[in-house]
Formats: sequence, C-alpha cells, structure tokens
Amino acid sequence: MRQKIVVGNWKMNKTYEEAVSFMQDFKLFVRDINNVEMVIAPPYTLLNYLKNEVNGTNIKVAAQDVFYEEKGAFTGEISPKMVKDFAEYVIIGHSERKKYFGETNQIINKKIKAALQTGLKVIFCLGESFEERNQGNTKTVVETQLREGLANITIVEMGSVVIAYEPIWAIGTGNTATPEQAEEIHIFLRQLVKDLYNEETSLNIRIIYGGSVNPNNATNILKMPNIDGCLPGGSSLDPGSLTHIIKSFS
Ligand code: PGA
Repeated sequence: MRQKIVVGNWKMNKTYEEAVSFMQDFKLFVRDINNVEMVIAPPYTLLNYLKNEVNGTNIKVAAQDVFYEEKGAFTGEISPKMVKDFAEYVIIGHSERKKYFGETNQIINKKIKAALQTGLKVIFCLGESFEERNQGNTKTVVETQLREGLANITIVEMGSVVIAYEPIWAIGTGNTATPEQAEEIHIFLRQLVKDLYNEETSLNIRIIYGGSVNPNNATNILKMPNIDGCLPGGSSLDPGSLTHIIKSFS
C-alpha cells in the first residue's frame, strides 16, 4: 500500500508573519490526520521556522529546490547538506524552475542525484506543455523527462523518490487535468518505472498530480487508483483549503 501524500508548494509566498498565522490554524485543523503524509514546502527563508513549528506534529517540511554542489562559490545557491538541516524532502524540476531559470533535464538529474546522496527525499516534477499535448507528444515528452531526470539513480535511491506529474498548462491556470487524463499519464509513468527498474519499484513509487488542485476538484482526482496524492500550489496558501484537500482522500 502506497501512503498518500499531499505537498503544499508555497512558491515565492509568505513572510514570516504570514507563515505564523497560517501554521496556527493549520496545525489545529490537521492535528488528528494520520493517514496522509502532509508536507509543506515554504521558501528557504521559512525553513528554519517551519522545522521548529512542525516538531511533534505529523507535518513534514520540503525545500522548493536545491543546488547540486556541496559547497563553495555559488552565490545565492543552497546545497543539499544545508537543506538537510531543516527539511526531509526537496522539490526538484518544477516547471517554473525550467521556465524562469533555464533548468534542463541534465541539471535536474544532477540535483536529484546530489539530494538523494545527501539523504533527502526527492519530489521530482515533470509534465508537458499545452503545445506538446496538442501535438500528441505528451507521452514522449514525459518519458524523456523521466529517463533523463532519473539517469544513474539506483533502485535503492528510487525508494526515496516521489514523482509529481504536473502538466504545465494546468499549473496556476485553473485548468486542471481531468482525473482520467491524469490517471492515463500516471499509469504510463508507473509502467516506465517498471521498465527502467522493476515491478516492485513501480508498485511502491508514489506518483502525485499537480496543477490547479483545489478543494472542489481534489476528491475526483485523488480517487484515481494510480494517483497517490497531489501537489497544490495556490490552494496550499490557505490553511482551510489545504486541509480540505488533505481530507479529500476517501
Ligand atoms: P497550482 O500549482 O496548484 O497553483 O496550479 C501547482 C504547482 O505548481 O506545483
């Protein structure tokens, strides 16, 4: 049985005070939930606060990105080892990193490798653009992203990887994929993991969906058998909405 997981990606949102106010409510709302792994990915500036704040709760912390070098003259960057002080998870390969910061599948692969070698768990994002889907290339695109992103990742390391299927056209647009569209790609990705690794790895790996998940559509998305959770962005900024999504698993 794959444990369900919901990862709230705050992106570049929330000051310290806003985070404090969020956590006051959120901790109360989810205090009895223990059937879903709950993860919050705040900006780096709030990792230390979050780490202390979730102490003694079921809530876990993720960073939104990481660099692949261990240390040195890389102004503005943060190493896996630094993240490890505060977070259990790290999101890698988000489409906004590709769009605004030029991340390639090769860079993503180096980041995934470095993070896993440091003992972080990785939420590896991939997904096609609107044009790619319209041209019928969705599966080719996600297959390339998966193969290149996971190059040289061992079967043991795969135990610490969560795959997040996030169609770019669904992120922040309100146009969520239908449960059937998402399920089709999740099945395809699981089969690829089976081909690249083995059946056990493919059955154990969690594949979550991201892209305009909200309290209204979460139930239908999360009831699909190959969708093991979700990665809400906008809807994770409000403690009530995020709680509603977490409670959508039936
Ligand atoms: P969204 O973001 O829920 O605001 O569409 C999802 C994501 O980018 O992870």
